[in-house]
Amino acid sequence: MSFMPALRSRASVLPRMASASRAFGSSAPRALASPAEQQAQASEGGNPNKPAHYKDVSIYRWNPDEPSSKPRLQTYKVDLNSCGPMILDLLIKVKNEMDPTLTFRRSCREGICGSCAMNIDGVNTLACLCRIEKAGETKIYPLPHMYVVKDLVPDLTQFYKQYRSIEPFLKAASTPADGTEHRQSPEERRRLDGLYECILCACCSTSCPSYWWNSDEYLGPAVLMQAYRWMADSRDAHGDARREKLENSFSLYRCHTILNCTKTCPKGLNPAKAIAAIKSDMAFGPPKDDAKRPVVADA
Ligand code: SF4
Ligand code: SF4
Ligand code: FES
Repeated sequence: MSFMPALRSRASVLPRMASASRAFGSSAPRALASPAEQQAQASEGGNPNKPAHYKDVSIYRWNPDEPSSKPRLQTYKVDLNSCGPMILDLLIKVKNEMDPTLTFRRSCREGICGSCAMNIDGVNTLACLCRIEKAGETKIYPLPHMYVVKDLVPDLTQFYKQYRSIEPFLKAASTPADGTEHRQSPEERRRLDGLYECILCACCSTSCPSYWWNSDEYLGPAVLMQAYRWMADSRDAHGDARREKLENSFSLYRCHTILNCTKTCPKGLNPAKAIAAIKSDMAFGPPKDDAKRPVVADA
């Protein structure tokens, strides 16, 4: 999947955006990296003793505190020989050494938290898992078709509201008689493979054309996959109610099986297959024999 991201900003949310920008951004100048920090960077892939190897990186910039200024691309020249190997290393280097006002989200640096999702050279992915291309220019935008809080930070309010709407937690019929945990066989547990690993980064939903145009009502692939994660759970007793909530023309059926979601998922998951499984359950009823339920992780 490759596309130029379309981004949205709106005057009505500026006050909220401004306060959010203070939480995420930094306007205080920072000292340049110390020799010890440079050494640490070198051990992460950079080598400051090598001759400089500069690369142009253009990054989307928009500041809600300057509402009359239009969004723009700002280009930085980054020495790859004093930088770690991943796009997130590059962004941290730009912020630490060149421009402390650059704003982006990150936390784990391990592809676990999902917070560094962005659009890099036309592809939605995680900056911490995306290697820097040595040649050519790189362009970095926030996730497409989302309102922007500041720079590379998208507003995920609607995404989380939709996640909340599917009640993403176990709703069992009763507590087990012996008062212990709800048990699953290894086979029942295996049916959650390919579902539970989702880190809710939103790369898939923001690559989905149906979600771009109908995100007010269509739940999008990430949230639908999580809805299926609970429908497929042998311990959950509310599958019928979960399916009934999707029985309308928007929540589920705006998916037209374009497969952008599966193509872009940085964790290698298959939300389109999970959506197909929900549609099958809605049309034919859930399998009488739960062992016949497809495992989304299987090819
Ligand atoms: S399915 Fe993949 S792309 Fe979508 S939210 Fe989960 S981890 Fe991210
Ligand atoms: S398969 Fe469905 S959810 Fe995935 S990108 Fe296509 S329309 Fe969107
Ligand atoms: S920083 Fe956590 S997924 Fe990239």
